[in-house]
Amino acid sequence: MSAERLTRYQQLAEEIADGIRAGLLRPGERLPSVRQTCELRGVSPSTVFQAYGQLESQGLVEARARSGFYVRAAKRATRSTTLQAAKPSGEATPVAISELVFELLGSTRDADVVPLGSAFPAPHLFPFEALARSGARAMRRLPAARITGALTAGDGGLRQTLRRRYALHGVPLAEDELVITNGAMEALNLCLQAVTKPGDLVVVESPTFYAALQALERLHLKAVEVATDPREGVDIGALAVLLERQPVAACWFMPSFQNPLGALMPPERKQALVELLARHRVPLIEDDVYGELHAGARRPPPAKAFDREGGVLHCASFSKCLAPGYRVGWAAAGRYAPVVERLKMSSSLATALPSQLALADYLAQGGFDRHLRRLREALAGQQQHALKLVERHFPSGTRVTRPLGGYFLWLELPPQVDALALHHKARAHHISTAPGVLFSADRRFTHHLRLNVGHPGDPRFDGALRLLGELAHSV
Ligand SMILES: Cc1ncc(COP(=O)(O)O)c(C=O)c1O
Repeated sequence: MSAERLTRYQQLAEEIADGIRAGLLRPGERLPSVRQTCELRGVSPSTVFQAYGQLESQGLVEARARSGFYVRAAKRATRSTTLQAAKPSGEATPVAISELVFELLGSTRDADVVPLGSAFPAPHLFPFEALARSGARAMRRLPAARITGALTAGDGGLRQTLRRRYALHGVPLAEDELVITNGAMEALNLCLQAVTKPGDLVVVESPTFYAALQALERLHLKAVEVATDPREGVDIGALAVLLERQPVAACWFMPSFQNPLGALMPPERKQALVELLARHRVPLIEDDVYGELHAGARRPPPAKAFDREGGVLHCASFSKCLAPGYRVGWAAAGRYAPVVERLKMSSSLATALPSQLALADYLAQGGFDRHLRRLREALAGQQQHALKLVERHFPSGTRVTRPLGGYFLWLELPPQVDALALHHKARAHHISTAPGVLFSADRRFTHHLRLNVGHPGDPRFDGALRLLGELAHSV
């Protein structure tokens, strides 16, 4: 925030805060009394009280009874337990987010930018060499008959392997339910199109993944946001109220390791969600791209595991857990599968076969679970490391999630920190961020930030995180 836009008390508070951060005022030291500051600065007592109050709410000073204000020891950033669910308005909002997404995230593609704002983990975490060997083997064997056989739902071998894997995790999929798509993004878009028409209302989490908002925008749908707990996901009570009040066409949720919060709905909550939506005959589009990236011992069941009526359109991909760039995803769309298949046929006919066959071969070799164990371990270790950096370098009062999987942290910075201004400032230092305004239709999360911490052992990332924290002190 520039000095011209600050009121007098904010300006005074900023100056004192700068003094504390620069070590001019040390922990335990008493601030000048209100009377002294009035005389020194030529301001009124109420200005000083307001400034000291602001410093107190930022956690920089504390008031001691009948003694005055004292500088606090540097406070560690608080944890997700204190990060509250946002309270969305419940109003249907037309979506116009795409321009902002292009503008803000275009920079993640530049090689000289440290992509804290990107949605992909570090490439060195993926078995690209083994995938290349699988690709070469698959290509040599590519029999012409399978080319037409793989239209439109995808390669039979890959679909079979996926079905077996889901069954092992307690999710029986119907024989013809799976459609292989161009990444999860296509699966999600086709599913959304299958269950809506322009003008419909779609419930999304608050905050939600910006690409979900882009998909709504593309299909001329309206977003209604539902309160979402940073740890346990969608508030089922709030959703029930919403469903009573408005004609909802679909819900688009990420029940496991939600992007950006990292929230994981407990199995009972997922079951309650599926049952509630089944009672209202509202389809659930489940985005499960991070389901395999659990830090705990077991893969959390997807909401699809509780689907008895075919109302869950489950979407996932290999993009985050095995093969970024291969663009292989899928939809298991329940009773909507025939519609999704038809939409797939009329939009792109089929998904490129070489990628599908390479992945089918890789999975048949049997190394996927070993790779996943290593990947999860690397990501979980890096999360701990990144949390320490956040706690050490970001302004006191910053709250941060501690997800049980995935590789994002969601930061709630002190309210006066403008995350968009921080984004632009960081950009000048060749660092990208994903500012909170990208994650809601009404751009509410103004002092929030999603950070990608999926880059273990990269000193550039550590340096960027440190610098970003320091920059956040002065925007
Ligand atoms: C929550 C979520 N869903 C879907 C996607 C897109 O997945 P894919 O790359 O497989 O299209 C992403 C990618 O960032 C994501 O974060």
